[in-house]
Amino acid sequence: MSDTDQGLARGLTNYGDRDFSVYLRNSFAASMGYSREMLKRPIVGIANSFSGFNNCHRHFPELVEAVKRGVLMEGGLPIEFPTISLGEVFLSPTSLKFRNLMSMDTEEMVRAQPMDAVVLMGGCDKTVPAQLMGAASADLPAVQLVAGPMMTSRYQTERLGACTDCRRFWSKYRAREVTTEQINDIEGRLATTAGTCAVMGTASTMACIAETLGMSLPGTAAIPAVHADRLRAGEESGRAAARMVRTPIRPSQVITAKSVENAMRVLLALGGSTNAIIHLTAVAGRLGIPVSLEKLNALSDTTPVLVNLKPVGTNYMEDFFFAGGVGAVLRELKPLLHLDTLDVAGGTLGDRLEQDAGWVDHRVIARAAEPLEPEGGLVALFGNLAPRGAILKRSAADPELFEKEGRAVVFTSLEDLAARVDDPDLDITADDFMVLQNAGPKSASGMPEAGYLPIPRKIAETGVKDMVRISDARMSGTAFGTIVLHVSPEASVGGPLALVRNGDRIRISVKNRRIELLVDEAELGCRRAAWATTNVPAAERRGYDRLYAEEVTQADEGCDFGFLQPVQTET
Ligand code: FES
Repeated sequence: MSDTDQGLARGLTNYGDRDFSVYLRNSFAASMGYSREMLKRPIVGIANSFSGFNNCHRHFPELVEAVKRGVLMEGGLPIEFPTISLGEVFLSPTSLKFRNLMSMDTEEMVRAQPMDAVVLMGGCDKTVPAQLMGAASADLPAVQLVAGPMMTSRYQTERLGACTDCRRFWSKYRAREVTTEQINDIEGRLATTAGTCAVMGTASTMACIAETLGMSLPGTAAIPAVHADRLRAGEESGRAAARMVRTPIRPSQVITAKSVENAMRVLLALGGSTNAIIHLTAVAGRLGIPVSLEKLNALSDTTPVLVNLKPVGTNYMEDFFFAGGVGAVLRELKPLLHLDTLDVAGGTLGDRLEQDAGWVDHRVIARAAEPLEPEGGLVALFGNLAPRGAILKRSAADPELFEKEGRAVVFTSLEDLAARVDDPDLDITADDFMVLQNAGPKSASGMPEAGYLPIPRKIAETGVKDMVRISDARMSGTAFGTIVLHVSPEASVGGPLALVRNGDRIRISVKNRRIELLVDEAELGCRRAAWATTNVPAAERRGYDRLYAEEVTQADEGCDFGFLQPVQTET
């Protein structure tokens, strides 16, 4: 393809005769009923991750029409194409395992098909990071359009939103505070509209990150899925993508070290999802931009928590939208941000923040001078139990448990956890630390959102709401508790987490950012020598499962595949 090729003439199928390739492609495109005039237009692809297995995207058939309208308004030809969709609760063993597959699908279809720019339609947890990763690698002008959050619902006098309230009621049910009849009733009321989870979970956090990076249009992250403004955002995203054909802005100009740092600030100010740090690391990694957990800690020390949303606070995404959304947060953080970053509309963050903020509801978005917390919502812990780091969402945890030593109660796998956690004879108290092994990225479970270990029923029934829980798994962005996640290296590759035994003492100190296994090195050496992985060898696996087992990186590296990152050339 030459740089001047546009529209259908881009990236021709190779028959060894260029003119024949053009002729053949035009004739097949014409078979879809386009006029010649239309086929001469630049093409805006629309990567549509609609799926019957993705409730969060069920409004995409209407939204895609708005995008097409916007593209047509700017003289482009909109062509929709499908990609893999990742409906969070419909995937086994866990959606994270397929994020890289979706990113490859997106990257390759954006690159292989003739389009001059692309609108990426995603929303549910892993879809937006997958699309951003793919777009970053393809480096074609791209606009991220998110699904927008669900509206809340009601149960009796209580307002409900997926999925913090899903977990809250399930915990009550486990503690026998809610009856079976009630939980069945609640089940039908938690998720009642199109859109992504109604709280600051992973989907909403990633939507806010996409806007902060500059990959989504300003003001669009928080618009509810069913609000008419969402359709207008679709139309405007189509227009912006078509404009970028004339004035290209590539993801590599938008996703930079500075915009990634801004996104980390916003993640911390939101008290956002722990998953987002993995995803942001992976997105930035596609452009060779490192995201270290040490950097996260440094930014966390100087970034206040501003957003009062569940699971950390009390409000829902629709409240965040009406309170001022991402723009209001950015304004409060302005002195901490790089203002010369670019967005897909062609403006800088500084330009954006010059504009009138409009009304802001400070009950939902606090002023920086009066933050909800003076320091960021996430911290990384390091120590001999997590040499490459672990994550704690302190804004969603019980500060009483932040400086604590406890006895380890170890579960060696998810199956072991499920079999024993509610055993009345389990030797455990509320002061113990629950430890889950073999739930990291290379384990058979593929790093599920199982880090929110259920509090053993016999303890939950005494009214205990939180315990220290440690694992190499992840946690849903909608969950809460004193939960240490993403322990790296993971147990199934022989990380120190694999060496913990029942009765060991563990000390955590959030103040000092430490997590230590209080077992002497000689004993750990003996355990290490006797350790063997429980993973099925990669050579005995097949297909994508094998590729994943061989290539997935650890949590601190973003759980991407090494070969999808830029090739490092020797200098
Ligand atoms: Fe799709 Fe929560 S299930 S965002």
